[in-house]
Parts: sequence; structure tokens; C-alpha cells
Amino acid sequence: MSPQQMPEAAPAVPEAGEEGVVVATASAGQTRDLGERLAALLRAGDLVVLAGGLGAGKTTLAQGIGAGLGVRGRVSSPTFIIARTHPSTRGGPDLIHVDAYRLGSLEEVDALDLDSSLQDSVTLVEWGEDKVESLAAEPLTVEVRRPHGGLEAGTDLDGADDGRRLIVLRGAGERWSRAELETLAEPAGPLESLAGAEEAGSD
Ligand SMILES: Nc1ncnc2c1ncn2[C@@H]1O[C@H](COP(=O)(O)OP(=O)(O)OP(=O)(O)O)[C@@H](O)[C@H]1O
Ligand SMILES: [Mg+2]
Repeated sequence: MSPQQMPEAAPAVPEAGEEGVVVATASAGQTRDLGERLAALLRAGDLVVLAGGLGAGKTTLAQGIGAGLGVRGRVSSPTFIIARTHPSTRGGPDLIHVDAYRLGSLEEVDALDLDSSLQDSVTLVEWGEDKVESLAAEPLTVEVRRPHGGLEAGTDLDGADDGRRLIVLRGAGERWSRAELETLAEPAGPLESLAGAEEAGSD
């Protein structure tokens, strides 16, 4: 079965009623690009909760966001470091990248003393779902899903990855407009981006 012929009732495909904006990507590069475009919407004080299973693509998305924000240092999967700050190279907000996998509760996240710079930074928390939302009034949750759902035990992981992901964005509060998030689903075509480049040049 080709990836285009997904069964209609594939369980992992989001339902319309979920109220998330869904963006499909077909490769890690496309997810990184999406992160770069998302970065343009982010500002100091924003909290982005990155959800999704093991190896879904949370760090890949975070790398794109780091590139889009223009921050220093390689955004990577923190193994021993639970939180890392990447300073802006251009006077914008810093990026605080947190892996909350080993953190049990908000108290432990609080103990990282992130609050001090939260207001001046964009904070990304992998595995932060249902743990860190209350650190900000209006968090954005971005869930990276494999459209075909979980993998069966014993599958060859590399062979089983067709590169497709569904990325579901859900913004809380008035900070996030659905219309703005929906622009992420449509990368500008060649003509539009040319026009955009001309406009950007004159400013
Ligand atoms: N469309 C895609 N988007 C993102 N990653 C993809 C995609 N297709 C394939 N991949 C691959 O999936 C893997 C995602 O790894 P990544 O470290 O970003 O996931 P993660 O969710 O951060 O994992 P962890 O749960 O260990 O933190 C990479 O090897 C990447 O190349
Ligand atoms: Mg990761």
C-alpha cells in the first residue's frame, strides 16, 4: 500500500473535531522547515510544548525553530542536560530547550529555575504535555504524529519510517489565531515567495 492510500479510518489521523491545525510533512527536512516558519510567529514569553512519541520528530522540529530564531549552538536531544539555553545571535529572544522526559512534575521543572528567563525567551519543552502548560498563560502545543500510528514490536525501525508525519498545532488563548497557524500549512509557492522577497527587500 502506498502512503497515499491510507485507510479512511486510520486511528492516528486527527479528527476534524480536535480543533488543531494539522500540517503534513514528508521528510525530516520538511519538519525542520516547518519549525523555521513557526519561529517567525514566536516571540519572547512563548511556551511551546512539543508532544509526540519516541523518535517522532520533536527535536527535529526544535532544530528548525532554533534556525528560524537565529540562535547559537546546535539544538540536539539533551541526554544528560535537561535544559539548555541557546542565546539569540540577533537580539531576538533566546531559546530555552527542555527535555522533560525524566521530569515527573511541574515542581521539578520549576526547580530548573527557568522562570527567571521565561519572559525573555521562547521556551520549547519536549515531553512537556500535561506537565508544564501552567508555566505560561497561553501555551502552544505541537504534537508530532506518525500518521500510521504506533509501530509493532519487532519492526525494523529505519525500514518502517516512511518519513511522513502529521503535525498538530493547538494554541491556547487569544495569543494564537487559527488563521495564523493555518498559514504554516501552506508554504508559499515560487511566485508568491518571489513577491514576498521583493517586498522584504524594500523594507
Ligand atoms: N517528517 C519527519 N519529521 C521529523 N522527523 C522525521 C521525519 N521523517 C523521518 N524523520 C526522522 O525521525 C527521527 C526523529 O528524531 P527526533 O530526535 O527529532 O525525534 P524526537 O521526537 O525528538 O525523539 P525523542 O523522543 O527521542 O526525543 C529522525 O531520525 C528523523 O530524521
Ligand atoms: Mg527529542
